[in-house]
Amino acid sequence: MCSQQEKSPLSCSSAMLPITVFALLLCIAHSSAGLPFEQKAFWDFDKEFDMHDLLMMMKDEEDGSGIEPVDPQEQPVCPFGCQCGLRVVQCSDQNLHHVPRNIPPDTRLLDLQGNKITEIRENDFKGLYNLYALVLVNNMISKVHPHAFLPMTRLQKLYFSHNRLPAVPKNLPASLVELRIHDNHIKRVAPGTFSALGTMNCIELGRNPLQNSGLEPGAFAGLKLNFLRISEAKLTGIPKDLPHNLRELHLDQNQIQAIELVDLSQYPDLNRLGLSHNHIRHIEHGSLGFVPYLRELHLDNNRLSKVPSGLFHMKYLQVVYLHSNNISEVGVNDFCPTGFSMKKTFYNGISLFDNPINYWEVQPATFRCVADRNAVHFGNHKK
Ligand SMILES: *[C@@H]1O[C@H](CO)[C@@H](O)[C@H](O)[C@H]1NC(C)=O
Repeated sequence: MCSQQEKSPLSCSSAMLPITVFALLLCIAHSSAGLPFEQKAFWDFDKEFDMHDLLMMMKDEEDGSGIEPVDPQEQPVCPFGCQCGLRVVQCSDQNLHHVPRNIPPDTRLLDLQGNKITEIRENDFKGLYNLYALVLVNNMISKVHPHAFLPMTRLQKLYFSHNRLPAVPKNLPASLVELRIHDNHIKRVAPGTFSALGTMNCIELGRNPLQNSGLEPGAFAGLKLNFLRISEAKLTGIPKDLPHNLRELHLDQNQIQAIELVDLSQYPDLNRLGLSHNHIRHIEHGSLGFVPYLRELHLDNNRLSKVPSGLFHMKYLQVVYLHSNNISEVGVNDFCPTGFSMKKTFYNGISLFDNPINYWEVQPATFRCVADRNAVHFGNHKK
């Protein structure tokens, strides 16, 4: 699901993917298409919910049991306006103001996106013990009854983005693996919000008005998360109290000013770190030494005046975005170690365009540990 696919090419960033044929095809197409400066993952958290992807996943997880044909005579009632079949209930874009009644109890996927639901009531999901995925994206939900999710003891995926929630709902099912709650009105994550969710793998929490002070101490306690995104929020620093085993942390489009030594020391397993579109001027010397497994680092669109120190020590680093900063000089040892053997993987993407660099002064040897010369993006799109 959300776990990092160790073998997938980094350009096909999505760590969210089970390996499906689609994903593989896309990875291949993507990585051969030159440099991916835009992250375009097949199953990207920025992307709107895609029913087809989810059905593929459900099939994968059903252990090949297949889906039994249902005798039409025995088919249970289907809520008015919805389509039911193969244990999928589709009620998207129906102008619904409430979760409909009569949802068949064997439903695995319930899609209620694009309606006008304002509230989840206590008994809305009563009897839905088999639900695997619940899609509530694009509604107007501002209230969730604290017991509403109790029946769904097998729920793994909850998609709640683009609503009006003031807080992460209480009593989320312990079976949950993935929570997307992007673009809501969450200002505060209280201690213990996720405490019962030991199998949770990824959370998308971006585009909420969250400040650092809103992530209270213990807010993420109990989680062993691989992936966390809090982009497009109001963070002014890297939060220190996130789950410590994070593999991916995306904090793009915040107002982060600096990276301090302690910041990255909290997250030693990071593979991918996204800090694009912040206000970073300063990266404390030695910071990157705490994240030795980093493969991909996005620092574009910040205010850096030099290449971060310590890149040349990073054995696994493959992608570094530094475009649209204020970098005026690049030293011959900024990126690569002095001996080839020290680097385990060569770079396949370095971006430096839109910086006040005199490119002709950069020595070619600067990029001696780059897979091929097309992997370095120069060019001066001057500010
Ligand atoms: C860019 O860096 C130069 C020094 O190299 C400095 O004088 C200037 O103020 C910086 N510009 C910004 C916008 O930070």
